Amino acid sequence: MNSVFKEHQQLFHFQSDQNFDFECMEVALCFQNCDWKIEHLQDLKVDLNATKSLLNDKNLDEWGKHTTFTDISSFIINEMKRRLKRQPELLTRAWLKFYEILSEFPALTVADNEFRAVYLCEAPGAFVTATNHFLKSRDSSVKFVWTANTLNPYHEESDVFDAAIVEDRFIRHQNAYEHWYFGDDNTGNILHKSFLNALRCKVGNECDLVTADGGINCVNSPDKQELLMYPLITAEIFIALNCLKVGGCLVVKFFTLFEPQTISLVFLLFNVFRELFAFKPLTSKQGNSENPHLVHKLSNLYNEIIDSQFSFYKLRTTISGKTKGDNFI
Ligand SMILES: C[S@@+](CC[C@H](N)C(=O)[O-])C[C@H]1O[C@@H](n2cnc3c(N)ncnc32)[C@H](O)[C@@H]1O
Repeated sequence: MNSVFKEHQQLFHFQSDQNFDFECMEVALCFQNCDWKIEHLQDLKVDLNATKSLLNDKNLDEWGKHTTFTDISSFIINEMKRRLKRQPELLTRAWLKFYEILSEFPALTVADNEFRAVYLCEAPGAFVTATNHFLKSRDSSVKFVWTANTLNPYHEESDVFDAAIVEDRFIRHQNAYEHWYFGDDNTGNILHKSFLNALRCKVGNECDLVTADGGINCVNSPDKQELLMYPLITAEIFIALNCLKVGGCLVVKFFTLFEPQTISLVFLLFNVFRELFAFKPLTSKQGNSENPHLVHKLSNLYNEIIDSQFSFYKLRTTISGKTKGDNFI
């Protein structure tokens, strides 16, 4: 990728100092009642929402055309379709984003003979097909073992969510169907309490990679997107921590990072992963709030965190505002 494009990627790198006893105590402090805010982030949120609200009277279709026209990466899909001899399944913007992430972070796909990956909230499935393409174009001898989850488009409960993806070609595909997992209640809803254990029974806890690309429709309350997404991202993270092997990686999509709840989640990741990167791919539309995909390498300390029995269903977050919390922010 040339330097013009590089300038449009956003990448931040954090490294945990691995002082576990101290960290663990502080992480525990994260999950108390949330009675704090970071004022300058709240100010930024107000500014951002005010700017976004300037679009309220714009026609959405026209605005979409405008952002596509001004987006530096929008030509890439057509270029890929033209250049690739073998067309990948589901060559979408999500496919490009994930291919870009895999290319930027080769550690994500390091594996000996078998590469075990779990994709949470994954329909229509482009992260899976991007990984497959990436692995096959590098070392075809690695066996790609994958499981994907999403809201079950064929379950009646999914109708009440405004989140189920209707594009089901890759779910129904004869070579793919058996890889999709909808939990023991068949809804696919990762917010259901039984999902975590059911998935862990299916895939074990030795996965190399977990991705979490959940999204729900926040068109009617864009100013609340971060808080609306919080339960889903929390569930994704706790499920990932239960399935990853020591040294495994997580790619999780965040949106904005203004609220104490979300900041506390990032703080938790900062404590259980050796390295943490906040990365906005160039191929993610620059104008959307889909912000950092945080990419991590799991530290070998994470089992102790899991053993300390955080329950995400009871999760209430706050950073204490002292010591480590202050440094982190
Ligand atoms: C942005 S799409 C994922 C795109 C996908 N990574 C790809 O590359 O094609 C977001 C997904 O989150 C799923 N989702 C939303 N809420 C969910 C929930 N509670 N449980 C499981 N999946 C959920 C939606 O059904 C949708 O498939």
